[in-house]
Amino acid sequence: MEARELGKSALELPVISFGAWAIGGWMWGGADEKDAIRAIQRGVDLGVTCIDTAAIYGMGHSEKLTGQAIAGRRDEIIVATKCGLRWDLEEGQLAMESAMPDGTPCKIFRNLRPDSIRHECEQSLKRLDTDVIDLYQCHWPDPTTPIDDTMEALLGLQQEGKIRAIGVSNFSVDDMRAATKTVTLASDQPKYNLLERAIEADVLPFCRQENIGILAYSPIAHGLLTGKITMDTQFGEDDHRHRQRWFQPENRRKALEFLEKVKPIADGHGVTLGQLAINCVICQEGITTALVGARNAQQVEENVKAASFRLSADELTTLRALAEELGEPV
Ligand SMILES: NC(=O)c1ccc[n+]([C@@H]2O[C@H](COP(=O)([O-])OP(=O)(O)OC[C@H]3O[C@@H](n4cnc5c(N)ncnc54)[C@H](OP(=O)(O)O)[C@@H]3O)[C@@H](O)[C@H]2O)c1
Repeated sequence: MEARELGKSALELPVISFGAWAIGGWMWGGADEKDAIRAIQRGVDLGVTCIDTAAIYGMGHSEKLTGQAIAGRRDEIIVATKCGLRWDLEEGQLAMESAMPDGTPCKIFRNLRPDSIRHECEQSLKRLDTDVIDLYQCHWPDPTTPIDDTMEALLGLQQEGKIRAIGVSNFSVDDMRAATKTVTLASDQPKYNLLERAIEADVLPFCRQENIGILAYSPIAHGLLTGKITMDTQFGEDDHRHRQRWFQPENRRKALEFLEKVKPIADGHGVTLGQLAINCVICQEGITTALVGARNAQQVEENVKAASFRLSADELTTLRALAEELGEPV
């Protein structure tokens, strides 16, 4: 698998990384643990040697499964995790009302205060069963904490050898400018897929110019761009897709019509729609890796093949023009 340097850090990431949100079960209607572990391990065998998780994914569950899956192979793997969303401490900015894996209601707070980051880092190291986190990312900005304080705390962890590189996620250009006054930022982690290309206006050009890597999330739009979701597919209350805009009937219909139009391009390369969608993300200059979520080894095997073909410049232009015609979801 092709590897790319992550910004100014010493890390090299495969162009396809494993997204470990769904395997935590939280907001995805649960997940099967054995399938999850096999999925990560099959990915590593196939060159998916970077795993992106977060403390909040299943309230620690995704990190624990990641730690179990990579036991004995830690040296081959880049572990990326995130801090800054607390479910166990009511301090900071309220982000959302949610529920614990056992169904107990809970509130989630954005919290990037130095003492909280230090506590979270120790917890993540334990759950991941490792001495060092390769890439430690702020999950979302926290307007209640001065960014200099947050970055000082991360710098301290880096100097102590607990984390290798510092990254952010869902940060705007202004947020990143502020962060880079204190630290060398390895990466940002924004949403990016054929249907959702807002970063092309600002975040992407800024990161290219400043040599900040990009870990692109939701490259197959939570599964919608694989073509397996039809107008009849239903999602449970505890699967976040039931309230995502692109999954609402009117928008979903438009997305499915779009997939019909792009299918000949996928067929021309002998690839699936999902592989086409992932390939479009990693073809974009400035993207370091696509974080592709998967629940089982079969999905991983399909997704990995997205890195093994090349779309022509004309095909990319056509795909992006067709996506442009869709406009914003209503
Ligand atoms: N920083 C952030 O705020 C943030 C936000 C979102 C995501 N992320 C990161 O990005 C990763 C990926 O994003 P995502 O999970 O939102 O969406 P995604 O990668 O676009 O979609 C993943 C989902 O699509 C389905 N799928 C995967 N491979 C498939 C295949 N070959 N065929 C059919 N269906 C397939 C699976 O769900 P089903 O089988 O249930 O359909 C899977 O959970 C996350 O795991 C996480 O690491 C970060």
